[in-house]
Amino acid sequence: MVALAEIRSLYDLPSDGEIAGRLAAGETLPVEFYFAPEVHALEQEKIFSRSWQYACHESVVAKPGDYAVARAGDTPILVTRGEDGELHGLVNVCRHRLHSIAQENGRAKNLQCPYHGWVYELDGRLKAAPRSKREPGFDCSGISLAPVAVETWDQWVFVNPDPAAPSLESLTSDIRERTDALNAELRTYEFQVRYEYTMECNWKIWAENALECYHCPILHRNSYGKSYATDPERYHVDSGENTIWHDAPIRWLPTEGDLSSLQGFRFAYTFPSSFFAMDDYVGFVGSVQPLAPERCFAYVDMYVRPGADETVVKEWLKMWDQTLIEDKQATDIQQIGYRSRRVPAGRLMLDSESPLSAFMTLAFKALSS
Ligand code: FES
Ligand SMILES: [Fe+2]
Repeated sequence: MVALAEIRSLYDLPSDGEIAGRLAAGETLPVEFYFAPEVHALEQEKIFSRSWQYACHESVVAKPGDYAVARAGDTPILVTRGEDGELHGLVNVCRHRLHSIAQENGRAKNLQCPYHGWVYELDGRLKAAPRSKREPGFDCSGISLAPVAVETWDQWVFVNPDPAAPSLESLTSDIRERTDALNAELRTYEFQVRYEYTMECNWKIWAENALECYHCPILHRNSYGKSYATDPERYHVDSGENTIWHDAPIRWLPTEGDLSSLQGFRFAYTFPSSFFAMDDYVGFVGSVQPLAPERCFAYVDMYVRPGADETVVKEWLKMWDQTLIEDKQATDIQQIGYRSRRVPAGRLMLDSESPLSAFMTLAFKALSS
């Protein structure tokens, strides 16, 4: 693995101290962090292989035998509910010749690899392998799908590819006071649709876009920025140790309605890549994952409040898709700018974009650790 020091000399980057100082002064990370393959590889090792990331809603793995597929950086994940009711986090890679065990969510008594048929218990232990009796010395015991850490945060199931990771509480403790109420309410919403977007940009460009709303009155003037107040007096952002919070009032509805009685938009992001949000009509949960140095994938699972005004819900589902398409269009174009290397780094507006500094500092600290 190439360390940050080698990446620095490869791309002629400033010293770690200088980069940290520039971040504190409101610059972005050097542009090389947004396309260098060595940075992408280092992020997998230092960030994605040891961070808590959203895997699925607990309702997907509610009953014994339920399993869900997910991804945590490069690690394919399988979350299962064992016969004993316990959740298990497993690497979704067969110990035979590394095919995935499952490609989509399901329910089964055992997990059977679809390639040559090795059969695993729901907790990952190998139970049987076709023709294994013909192999002298082959012993199923001692062979198991690799474990990952799994925990729930209210209704959200999170995984960490590092089985020895500190508990999820260490990530979320500074935001729970705000998310307790949000999650309790969002738990009553019903799943509606999954939106998926593949961006031709580095995952950090997409995440940074999601973490500021300075762009909302301009880029989203006909979508998000029409529905929610985006002026700095009413749009609030706040950064915790590993988390970022946004809230904003609803300022327009497609029907008659008393805006002052609404709770408005609330959004929580956990480093590096998971988020959930809601307002009085819809909610969502999702994740962004790097696919390559200059490509990433995001999904957003949309939920709807039972009994909510259908006109607003319909408009809001459309508005969120439009907002995320506008974001994709912007971040794809930004990548061209970063890739050109003709500007060494961006310059933030710290009053409006403070969560970006927090996010970049977290990423940089992880990479330089
Ligand atoms: S790769 Fe799974 S059984 Fe062969
Ligand atoms: Fe946006």
